[in-house]
Amino acid sequence: MVENMPTQAFIGGNWLKTERTFEVQNPATGETLAHVTDCGVAEAKRAADVAVEAFASWKLTTAHERAGLLMRWYDLIFKHDEEIARLMTLEMGKPIRESRAELKYAASFISWYAEETKRNYGDIIPSQNPNKRLFAIRQPVGPVLAITPWNFPAAMVTRKLAPALAAGCTFILKPAEQSPLTSLFLAQLWQEAGGPAGTFQVLPTLDPLPVADELLNDSRIRKITFTGSTEVGKLLYQKAGATMKRISLELGGHAPFLIFADADIEAAVAETIACKFRNAGQTCVCTNRIYVQESIQAAFVEQFTQAVQALKVGDPLLEETQIGPLVDKQGLDKVQAHMADALAHGAHLVTGGQARGGLYFDPTVLTNVKPGMRMMEEETFGPVAPILTFRDEAEAIQAANATPYGLAAYLWTRDLGRAWRVSEALEYGIVGVNDGVPATAQAPFGGVKNSGIGREGGKWGLEEYLDVKYISMSLPS
Ligand code: SIN
Repeated sequence: MVENMPTQAFIGGNWLKTERTFEVQNPATGETLAHVTDCGVAEAKRAADVAVEAFASWKLTTAHERAGLLMRWYDLIFKHDEEIARLMTLEMGKPIRESRAELKYAASFISWYAEETKRNYGDIIPSQNPNKRLFAIRQPVGPVLAITPWNFPAAMVTRKLAPALAAGCTFILKPAEQSPLTSLFLAQLWQEAGGPAGTFQVLPTLDPLPVADELLNDSRIRKITFTGSTEVGKLLYQKAGATMKRISLELGGHAPFLIFADADIEAAVAETIACKFRNAGQTCVCTNRIYVQESIQAAFVEQFTQAVQALKVGDPLLEETQIGPLVDKQGLDKVQAHMADALAHGAHLVTGGQARGGLYFDPTVLTNVKPGMRMMEEETFGPVAPILTFRDEAEAIQAANATPYGLAAYLWTRDLGRAWRVSEALEYGIVGVNDGVPATAQAPFGGVKNSGIGREGGKWGLEEYLDVKYISMSLPS
């Protein structure tokens, strides 16, 4: 357990209980970690009032003041880095070394936006009228509702929260019910850093719909940002239209990984492992389809299988563990259903394929995978690597793009011309060329097609929280 772990809702700078609580469990052991306050409509209303009130003064602070606060928060996060990493591992099963890496990744959004907000420049637009001066300035959009997933309990919060706070917005967070503890801990540190009451509030809930509906229907909440499934994202998109909110959606993916015959196979194997098995395959940018050019298929499968068999599955708190449990039974059931479907339709099991007890599933390699199988259509979100083949560049591009999703895609080649051609032809928001883990704070992260709208990270991430205002000034003659 983690000392001083907050478990209550954080509203208006106060820690609040309701009559109801819900359990957060450790997926590695099934033990109850905490009973967390379960918020409802009343808490959502209260949080909205507070966010609106706090916005009136927060938006008037200077970028330098906000940057100072963000950096105090950043320092406190590193003061408590090991506790936060442990908390992430306990509540969602990520191996401890990955939790430490996530903590650094999460904090990097805070320091990056603390700097970037100081460069929130406007424009002076030349006028055709000698007596007019035209300006465009950027102002914070207003109070924001964020709904975040369990797979990155810290980074998916800070990737939204840091630019929002930096821009001068106030922020209401509905964290995932599987992993609310990390976000509550982050809120406690924001308070300790001197973050003003109501700038960052956290509403844990087991029943997100009424809470989300209340805030979606409130026209004072000016923006919604969501990471999660395409199905829920589409619903939120429709609902946000009624009050014309700004919206960013980071939704599901179905990432292809194209390995051309001229690739460095050893490096491609190592990066495919990192891309596929990070977080036990539970990231939106994990590859779901590995396409290998026919002439190197046998060599790739052999080396890849050896690397998969060497992965250490076990207690995520142990330093050597590389694959922890899946987050919950629903996640495990989906992996098993995809496996059963693939095997029934002729896939060949090369290694793994078994549940190990509890929420663990063996790292798995499949060949002879075909379009039409469930795992070719939906995200498996587990440690299963399906391998397919292709003949040439045109076929690889066609197969990669044959999906309604468009978040991340990867390709491996030593040919610079091919690297450009294929990158440009891939209908995806992110392309990794000889890079299986491209996400970083200063770069744009987000998808096209059913994978969402808007971008997080970099200068694009700040713009999502800013409205452009045009000012036309007539000079006295
Ligand atoms: C995600 O799964 O959406 C986040 C992955 C990342 O930032 O690397």
